[in-house]
Amino acid sequence: MSYSNPQSVAASVSPSTSNIHDRFRSARRESYSDIRRPKILHPLENENLRLLILENISQDAVAHFRQQGYHVDHSTKAMSEDELVEKIGQYHAIGIRSKTKITERVLKSASKLLVIGCFCIGTNQVDLGAAARAGIPVFNSPFSNSRSVAELVMAEVVALSRQLFERSYELRTGIWNKQSKGCWEVRGKTLGIVGYGHIGSQLSVLAEAFGMRVVFYDIINIMPLGSARQLDTLAHLLSESDFVTLHVPELPETINMISKEQLAQMKKGSYLINNARGKVVDIPALVDALQSKHVAGAALDVFPSEPGSNGAPFDDQLNSWASVLRALPNVILTPHIGGSTEEAQTMIGQEVSQALSRYLNFGSTNGAVNFPEVDLRAIPADVVSQIRICHVHKNQPGVLKQVNDALSPYNVEKQYSDSKGEIAYVMADIADVSFKELPNLKERISSTDANILTRFLA
Ligand SMILES: NC(=O)c1ccc[n+]([C@@H]2O[C@H](COP(=O)([O-])OP(=O)(O)OC[C@H]3O[C@@H](n4cnc5c(N)ncnc54)[C@H](O)[C@@H]3O)[C@@H](O)[C@H]2O)c1
Repeated sequence: MSYSNPQSVAASVSPSTSNIHDRFRSARRESYSDIRRPKILHPLENENLRLLILENISQDAVAHFRQQGYHVDHSTKAMSEDELVEKIGQYHAIGIRSKTKITERVLKSASKLLVIGCFCIGTNQVDLGAAARAGIPVFNSPFSNSRSVAELVMAEVVALSRQLFERSYELRTGIWNKQSKGCWEVRGKTLGIVGYGHIGSQLSVLAEAFGMRVVFYDIINIMPLGSARQLDTLAHLLSESDFVTLHVPELPETINMISKEQLAQMKKGSYLINNARGKVVDIPALVDALQSKHVAGAALDVFPSEPGSNGAPFDDQLNSWASVLRALPNVILTPHIGGSTEEAQTMIGQEVSQALSRYLNFGSTNGAVNFPEVDLRAIPADVVSQIRICHVHKNQPGVLKQVNDALSPYNVEKQYSDSKGEIAYVMADIADVSFKELPNLKERISSTDANILTRFLA
């Protein structure tokens, strides 16, 4: 509907129930939605896209792909390397979790594969370099569980402060032990957040809602949320906080970032929470600080070595200090459940399935872990004569000149390129191309020596 068409505006809003302002707003809303509605693009090869979805990925994701018109083969199980080598050649996209390994050998058999979706946080199960060299972007969902972790930390703050696990354990073993000594409200206490990223900043908001003061330390300057304050050093944060919670990635500089010296800098009677990565805390030093009662309690969700499967022992063979840690009072130990909620799984399903369809339908690589991130504004639905060129190529001099020479007879509406390591990716929308010219144009662009993959979408 056009904003300048008063008849159609009037038809969409009942005059008896609306005034001139409602009609104006309605007209504006509808004209904007027309402008923004993207054209759904399709590969020119006209081949139906086939997806292989493994490891019981959410049914919502499968439904999303089917709605897009893709053929989906779905299995609850992972596939071995040999099975994949046999089957992957028929598929344009694959969705996996952590058990299916996409090796270089698998990728060599994946002659049609355009994209890989890891419906999880990590991407170690994919040979990312080999995938990039084959022109295949890999998407994952690193931040879908931030809220789940932040909520768990709040639960741990309260549970440590009230010695909840001790009292519950005692009562389960038949001992009534009502006491208030050493138990505190969290209101008015200071929470020190180390790493103010996706999780740290969510947590900041939740903690303030509990009436806590929030301070944080991060290597970059970040705009604090609410009344939180950024402190200049880790030592400063440790000396001010009643609760210290860690939300940094595992990097060479964060391994053992909380060790004997830092534990000594913490306030006497304060608590330590680690839901980040196991190696960030020097656990034998923490055991000493807990035994001396300098630290009043700790919650640990992550460990330097973690069992590979449920039911496996968490013992001294795995981590030499495990039995000592398990015997300490007011220590909460959980099996890396920080991000494990149904909501996080649903969000992962939505985020990764949308990333895969954005790449298949529009060529966007925003969020890819192994690929240059390139995107173009959508072609509006009412524009019929534009096509989109997606050209993955080796990152070497002269390629853009060759591509632009091929495009020079046409009007390039938009173009954007970027590179990452050995791989570069250019997207361009060109106007007023006749369909019979397309095979020649495609042949010209894809026959350059740097070509890895050229797709035309229209
Ligand atoms: N327990 C779980 O189940 C679970 C779930 C999700 C994430 N995690 C872990 O939580 C951690 C944080 O995740 P996120 O999503 O918030 O990450 P993020 O990348 O959004 O934030 C990390 C923050 O740490 C900061 N940082 C990096 N090095 C630092 C240093 N040396 N000192 C201070 N700050 C530093 C960064 O600048 C960034 O702001 C990661 O280690 C992640 O693996 C655990």
